[in-house]
Amino acid sequence: MSIELFIEQLEALAQEAGKAFSEAADSDQLDQARVEFLGAKKGRLKSLQKNMGAVPGDQKKTAGMKLNAVKNSIQESFESAQNRLSSASSDGQRDVKFDATLPGKAFHVGRLHPITQTINELKDIMGRLGFTPAEGPEIEDDYHNFEALNIPRAHPARDPLDNFYLSVAETTSGNDIALSGNPLLLRSQTSTVQIRVMENTQPPVRIVSLGRVYRPDTADWSHYPMFHQIEGLMVDEDVSLADLKTVLKLFASNYLGDEVPVRIRPSFFPFTEPSVEADYYWDGKWVEFGGAGIVDPNVLRAVGYDPEKVSGFAFGLGIERLCMIRHQITDIRYLFTNDTRFLHQF
Ligand code: DAH
Repeated sequence: MSIELFIEQLEALAQEAGKAFSEAADSDQLDQARVEFLGAKKGRLKSLQKNMGAVPGDQKKTAGMKLNAVKNSIQESFESAQNRLSSASSDGQRDVKFDATLPGKAFHVGRLHPITQTINELKDIMGRLGFTPAEGPEIEDDYHNFEALNIPRAHPARDPLDNFYLSVAETTSGNDIALSGNPLLLRSQTSTVQIRVMENTQPPVRIVSLGRVYRPDTADWSHYPMFHQIEGLMVDEDVSLADLKTVLKLFASNYLGDEVPVRIRPSFFPFTEPSVEADYYWDGKWVEFGGAGIVDPNVLRAVGYDPEKVSGFAFGLGIERLCMIRHQITDIRYLFTNDTRFLHQF
């Protein structure tokens, strides 16, 4: 082999090695290239070295020097590639590892249940109208759920089939009233909180109570055995139905975000006189709002107020119904199935 050809091969190899080193994207690729070109046993430089034996004797020295020079230059280009990669991984590691163009992995963060969101919002609206939040127990006694609310002993609202009684005090021999004493039940209405507040407060009173109530209804699109009510109560020296209607109108307009007309129709509840059903006009039709009225003098007397001196209004509305209307939810059961595909929409 002529020395020219040998040198040509060495230079071609140096060029190829330099290219491979500078193109290596990480230390693994660089190491592969190092083994390929500089490997002590099977490296390509090593196998080229064997060609030196075929170079004519008087040119072997020149060939040897050239071989060393090329070996050094390949070694140098390996080292500079090594430096390049190590400085990239210390200074710019984030830039190399984080590729902002890759598709992300979405994950859902938790959020408040739509009913909790509704409760918070309604509490807020009533707060702006001057009503302070009040709480009462969900396990109630007969006295607060019925008796003090002027609901007579034989009233159908007390029927064991329409309530979740937890304890049955002595039964009477007659079969029309099976419950006597002061049995416990899961409260069937938030009107209980009216009594609990008035028992412990002197007028004026302006409270709102939002919470769970329980009735053994079969679940369908609009019924569920547990649901939520918002109860309002205002007692002062001269409270009238006009005040009630104004509060309901402001409440509905605030929640639904529009000027909402409200109308009242005569109705009956044992704890109010007169009693009304309230409706609001929404989306082209009248929608039932809930029950309301002027607090019955018997209720005021039961808590030690003087009906000659003070009067009040009260109302009780279904929270699910308000939430469903506002968000166009067509079935109350969606609210309690806890399917995250539903819940994530709120
Ligand atoms: N407690 C009644 C119910 O659950 C609703 C109600 C009606 C509440 C009239 C009131 C009221 O405060 O005045 O059906």
